[in-house]
Amino acid sequence: MPGPHEPPPRAPTAAERLTRQQIEALEGTYGNRYLLEPAPDHKLPKDGMSAEEALGLVREEMVLDGLPARNLATFVTTWMEPEADELIQESLRVNFIDHAEYPQSAEIEQRCIRMLADLFNAPGETTGARTQGSSEAIMLGALSLKWKWRARMEAAGKATDRPNLVFGGDVHVVWEKFCRYFDVEPRIVPLSPDRYTIGPGDVEGHIDENTIGVAAVLGTTFTGHADDIVGINEMLVAMKAEKGLDVPLHVDAASGGFVWPFLYPHSEWDFRLEQVRSINVSGHKFGLVYPGIGWLIFREKADLCEDLVFYENYLGKRDATFTLNFSTGDAMVLAQYYNFARLGHSGYRYVMETMKYNARTLAREIENAGDFEIIGSEDQEQLPLVAFKLAGQHAYDEFDVAAQLAAERGWMVPAYTLPPNAEHVKIMRVLVKETLGHTLTTALGADIAQACRILDAKGGLHPAERKRVKTNTGF
Ligand SMILES: Cc1ncc(COP(=O)(O)O)c(C=O)c1O
Repeated sequence: MPGPHEPPPRAPTAAERLTRQQIEALEGTYGNRYLLEPAPDHKLPKDGMSAEEALGLVREEMVLDGLPARNLATFVTTWMEPEADELIQESLRVNFIDHAEYPQSAEIEQRCIRMLADLFNAPGETTGARTQGSSEAIMLGALSLKWKWRARMEAAGKATDRPNLVFGGDVHVVWEKFCRYFDVEPRIVPLSPDRYTIGPGDVEGHIDENTIGVAAVLGTTFTGHADDIVGINEMLVAMKAEKGLDVPLHVDAASGGFVWPFLYPHSEWDFRLEQVRSINVSGHKFGLVYPGIGWLIFREKADLCEDLVFYENYLGKRDATFTLNFSTGDAMVLAQYYNFARLGHSGYRYVMETMKYNARTLAREIENAGDFEIIGSEDQEQLPLVAFKLAGQHAYDEFDVAAQLAAERGWMVPAYTLPPNAEHVKIMRVLVKETLGHTLTTALGADIAQACRILDAKGGLHPAERKRVKTNTGF
């Protein structure tokens, strides 16, 4: 009842006469209040909304993102089987790091580590870690290199204040990040103007007693080729014998670790080589799992510095962790194990060979159209991708072609320049994954040729259009 001095209640509006249920029914049919109002931005909204509204609100905005299947720049998996999706959905509630509560998830992680160690030809029982991706795996692996180096130097009574790490200009940015975050001098070996990976001759002069390790790449983000890992290993073995310098080699197999064992099983890059002490691989790249899952595998248990492992008592059990992150879902660990069980060795080989076949077909189409030169030859070991650059004189460049392709059909093909001393080289690159089968590679080949014909007629694009091209390589 209104008090004596309160104004009489006004008549309810038409909307107020509707029950909440009726409003919700109308909103379901016609939309929601965010058709007329901005979406929550700076502050939590005063009141919430129905689940249906919230779903509509977020979904609506997501149409502005690119289509993952047309993102030919990414190494990361954009499709899994419906059964894997089901498993992921079921396990979203589980915090992987809570080993006491979810011991079977921890056991499945260990199975994956054992299977990968076997795939990478570890000589015996070893150890490793599940990570958020190769970046975390590299940080942890390189930290172990640094800790081990420091212990060696301390034992020899030498200074430990100037550690350095040697790697090529063809590495992913994470290696420089590690050096900056963890106070290590990066010794970056420049590329040659006409060779986009590194070998022993490039590396040797950069190594001294303060070198915590050398990193080599199996499948670079730039062209998909591998450093000369065999050659670098031989050089390090010789250095050990001649100078007594035992420098460990870490292989960044973020992409290549799930490709080489199936496409090039006789090619040695892993623990078959004496100085290779640790390897990282991204499960979410050619491991065929959604982001984020990565793995770090050591050659032997002793390669993981014990000081980096934290032991805690959790619910009465002693638990060991070696991670930069802590809480995380276990869905992608289970999805990785699902793929191992589902595909097996022959299944992974089939998938990799299919991708390689489609990449080769696309490369031939691009080459036959006459505008481009393919980077690398068919007999070189490479990730399933096509890296190419314009051949001859044109009134436009690779960035124009990429922008034209995006404008015409929404293909996301990156264009970028290579690191020093090959910075004059502009490259385009197409990842050929499971989602890019024969029909799409044929359509893409024709679209690339068509983009060149349009650019022949109209010349290069406006700088604003070129700015939209994706220029980052490592995803
Ligand atoms: C060679 C290489 N190393 C490291 C990374 C980083 O991997 P992630 O994205 O799994 O952290 C990438 C990513 O593309 C890569 O290609």
